[in-house]
Amino acid sequence: MSQRATFTDLRPFFLTIADVEHEHGGGFDWTAFFGNDNPVELDIGCGRGLFLVTAGEANPDVNYLGIEIDYGEGRRAATRLQRRQLSNVRVLGGDVFRGLTELIQPGSVSAVHVYFPDPWWKRRHRQRRIFNRRFIDLCVTALQPGGLLHSWTDVEEYFGVISSLMEQDPRFETLPAPVERQATHDMDYHTSFERKARKVGKPIYRGRWRLVENGEQAHGTN
Ligand SMILES: C[S@@+](CC[C@H](N)C(=O)[O-])C[C@H]1O[C@@H](n2cnc3c(N)ncnc32)[C@H](O)[C@@H]1O
Repeated sequence: MSQRATFTDLRPFFLTIADVEHEHGGGFDWTAFFGNDNPVELDIGCGRGLFLVTAGEANPDVNYLGIEIDYGEGRRAATRLQRRQLSNVRVLGGDVFRGLTELIQPGSVSAVHVYFPDPWWKRRHRQRRIFNRRFIDLCVTALQPGGLLHSWTDVEEYFGVISSLMEQDPRFETLPAPVERQATHDMDYHTSFERKARKVGKPIYRGRWRLVENGEQAHGTN
């Protein structure tokens, strides 16, 4: 007997890069994809989608696309979206570097969220970290002028790397970091990894930066 796994069809909530290339002519036309002209925000490495569900429900006038390389995790997120029929949220299964270079039109995104990116603890694996200069350049291309980049982590050293890359980049201005607030119920956290870290009392490092408009000067760079 065949041992092939059967997968529930989670479209349109979960699509792979190949699906988008096939069904949307090679790249995202957000208006056609979401069926409206609302702003689009990306959640890079969305995991099982707590942020996507909470933000998608709280902001029905914003569209969200999670990008997740691990199809198992991405499909878990999409199952939550399908259960709630959240029409303003989708998950793209695939590598963010491919998604940003091949599918997302320049200047078409109003915010990028990067929560708890994999820290790759071993020194010899550090080059696998996604938050680097190339990633920032791709975000600059994807973002509209004035667009926001949010990144949180519980890894102090990685946050040091992220914030120094961002603060040295004249294309961005550093905004005040969001303050921590008390959770009001067991799932009242920004993401699953934030939930896990806060439950064991780890500090969270939060950063927020804004892509400056043409001709505008980022604070602290002159
Ligand atoms: C530590 S988890 C954090 C998940 C979620 N953001 C959270 O805060 O709960 C990092 C996630 O990034 C995903 N990831 C790692 N590299 C990626 C890449 N190149 N493209 C897309 N997703 C990636 C991993 O599969 C994983 O789900």
